[in-house]
Amino acid sequence: MKLRFDYNNMMEEAIGKEGFKPAVFSKNASKIAAAQKTVLDNRGKGWQEWCDLPFMPESELDELISYCGAVGKKAESFVILGIGGSALGPLSVASALLHLHHNELPKEKRNAPKLYVEDNVDPERMAALLDILDLKTSYFNVITKSGETSETLSQFLILYSALKKELGTEEAKKHIIVTTTIGKGTLYNVAQSEGFKIYGVGAGVGGRFSVLSPVGLVAFAALGLNVKAMLKGAAAAAKSAEEPDVCNNPALMTAFLQVEAMARGKNIGVLMPYADSLKFMADFYCQLWAESLGKAVDLNGKTVHTGQTPAKALGVTDQHSQVQLYTEGPFDKVVTFLAVDEFRTTVVINDDKTINACDFLKGHTMNELINAERRATEFALKKANRMNCTVYLPAVNEETVGELLMYFMYQTAFAGALLNIDTFNQPGVEEGKKATFAMLGRSGYESKLEEVNAAVHKSDYII
Ligand code: PA5
Repeated sequence: MKLRFDYNNMMEEAIGKEGFKPAVFSKNASKIAAAQKTVLDNRGKGWQEWCDLPFMPESELDELISYCGAVGKKAESFVILGIGGSALGPLSVASALLHLHHNELPKEKRNAPKLYVEDNVDPERMAALLDILDLKTSYFNVITKSGETSETLSQFLILYSALKKELGTEEAKKHIIVTTTIGKGTLYNVAQSEGFKIYGVGAGVGGRFSVLSPVGLVAFAALGLNVKAMLKGAAAAAKSAEEPDVCNNPALMTAFLQVEAMARGKNIGVLMPYADSLKFMADFYCQLWAESLGKAVDLNGKTVHTGQTPAKALGVTDQHSQVQLYTEGPFDKVVTFLAVDEFRTTVVINDDKTINACDFLKGHTMNELINAERRATEFALKKANRMNCTVYLPAVNEETVGELLMYFMYQTAFAGALLNIDTFNQPGVEEGKKATFAMLGRSGYESKLEEVNAAVHKSDYII
């Protein structure tokens, strides 16, 4: 793997009794090995089809790259309609790999369509999108694994109507790519009858584990990103998840340390990238960790109400917001930094001789400054005996981003196995989806509506 993992500041030698003794791994060897076996034995099976995504058949991949690449060349804007796992993967990867002001670049410098990821149903946001899009040159990827999600279906209905009005039905159809489960769900049926281009999400690929399926790949190809390099990186992370020695297996080792930290009251896991390009990786990680590990019961049916609350922060910005709490507040967090060795550009802080001040900054680079600030925060946390660790990316590119995504997915799967829970379901999310269907009058949800309406909600408690 190209990524490096520094867990010094999780250990007793660095942070005293708050940290782990080196023997923590040997003492728990059988538990760790069992969790690893559970995950590895299920690769490609049940809800673990995501493990196979880096190894997609070449011919399928080439077709996707060629079709979506051609769409990307025609498009002025590429719009993703989706939510949760159907939005955060594409958003986090595109934000990592595109120019940080991609949409504002002039067309000749952009070399790819503008990207909009619409993952909410705020009416003002939809109206604003319609205000700025030229529908003639806009292409839409409607993504929903289940094909049933209200948010995505409502966005689709609004935008398909607008497209038909502007372009006529036959042309409008060519502006839509659907990504959904083949053979199942409302969107699949509509896509079939309308004749949209469809890409399938494997039946055993859950939303938050789907970024390396067409859920992400369609957009990445349309944006001209190197999809093959991304999958190569993901394959390297998948390989490293097989390593039997936990100390050489970053996903297993950090999953174990996080679960052990939870047992010591570290109920919050902060992901703090020190790079704006990786800002939305924290959103991706938060969904994956929260929705996978936040569970009421374990696999034996025992009530456990487990999970570690993920939180996102951005270095250095949140040094001036969150870090005071992380350093001096409750001992309830593990902070994971994402560090970048080589940024894609170097910016020198001018040695301006007319300003007789700031000499300590002059002549340094912003690259040096951001990494010094990360190390300074790491030092401050260590000094205050706070658990923290760092994932280093040598650079942010397709390959390292692919590694990072797969590392996060394996880490989550290993943590779920260590907690003995179903990592891949989301009954809490489904409950809200069903209540929404009921409130909007979807047939088949009448008894759910009665249940919703019967919920105690007293006007006495509203002021
Ligand atoms: O991880 C999950 O399963 C969820 O977050 C889903 O991605 C989210 O609810 C959207 O579901 P769908 O893709 O079916 O529209």
